[in-house]
Amino acid sequence: MSYKNILSYKSEVEKELEKRLSAKNAPEILKKSMLYSLSAGGKRIRPCLMLEFYRCLGGEMNDILNFACAVEMIHTYSLIHDDLPCMDDDDLRRGKPSNHKVFGEDIALLAGDALLTFAFETACDINKSIKPERALKAVKYIADAAGLEKMVGGQVLDLQAENKQISIEELEQIQEGKTAALLKVNAYVACALANADEKTTKLFVEYCDFLGRAFQIRDDILDVIGDEENLGKPIGSDEQMNKNTYVSLLGLEKSQKLVEKLTNSAINAIKQATLDNENLCSLALKLAERKN
Ligand code: IPE
Ligand code: IPE
Ligand code: MG
Ligand code: MG
Ligand code: MG
Repeated sequence: MSYKNILSYKSEVEKELEKRLSAKNAPEILKKSMLYSLSAGGKRIRPCLMLEFYRCLGGEMNDILNFACAVEMIHTYSLIHDDLPCMDDDDLRRGKPSNHKVFGEDIALLAGDALLTFAFETACDINKSIKPERALKAVKYIADAAGLEKMVGGQVLDLQAENKQISIEELEQIQEGKTAALLKVNAYVACALANADEKTTKLFVEYCDFLGRAFQIRDDILDVIGDEENLGKPIGSDEQMNKNTYVSLLGLEKSQKLVEKLTNSAINAIKQATLDNENLCSLALKLAERKN
């Protein structure tokens, strides 16, 4: 079992996303725009994490594919909106022109809205084997992570910090909201659905917390040293928008050191949580040196 095994969930998630979207009856342009971003590639880290946690807890992937798709839909909506001219104003995403460059800002905005609501419809479409009270708990976790106290709140703080000097603690708070929350939610959801014990849940969440922080710092680094072709999004966007990032506050070298430290902490946490930790350990190590 390895990092590659985790990514093998990717194709299952992609098939399911396309199947669910194509079954919907909606204006053609809206479906096209949603599908454009949903099927544009992307690492699918969030759903892969959820499915791997669930497997570690003895569960069967197919029973919770709807939840994994829901989180990926929310993530995709957040990227469409993040690229809009009123936000980061980026023209390239997942190796293709950003959604609004192809469909216009109006449709891009609405495709994002529709992905967010479709995510909750999808999450509620539970498999027979899932207990409704556990599903309800999971849906609430997703709403919380995507909402005003976490992802959306973090995006607001990120915008407010443009053209300002902020502290590392403030930057940590931004990144915790805009990025780590939607990584952590995969642990909460898998644990709620599998009815995992408190100690395991805490350690899975801790793993994601460290991983999520490392993930966004590496994202900040790639915005400087990345290669547009590999990354599939523009380089230098943060500097152009005068964003606060780990690189702008600490420099490249210290930032990468911190990625490695957080990665080690993530690995320590997962090793305490489960003996079946090989995939999650190698995922953390791969992400620390990812190029896209
Ligand atoms: C990009 O997320 C936005 C951040 C939260 C850093 P990913 O790096 O997971 O993007 P995709 O899904 O692979 O395109
Ligand atoms: C985006 O952070 C976080 C969300 C979309 C919630 P960034 O703005 O750093 O992500 P990229 O670099 O555009 O992918
Ligand atoms: Mg942004
Ligand atoms: Mg951005
Ligand atoms: Mg970025």
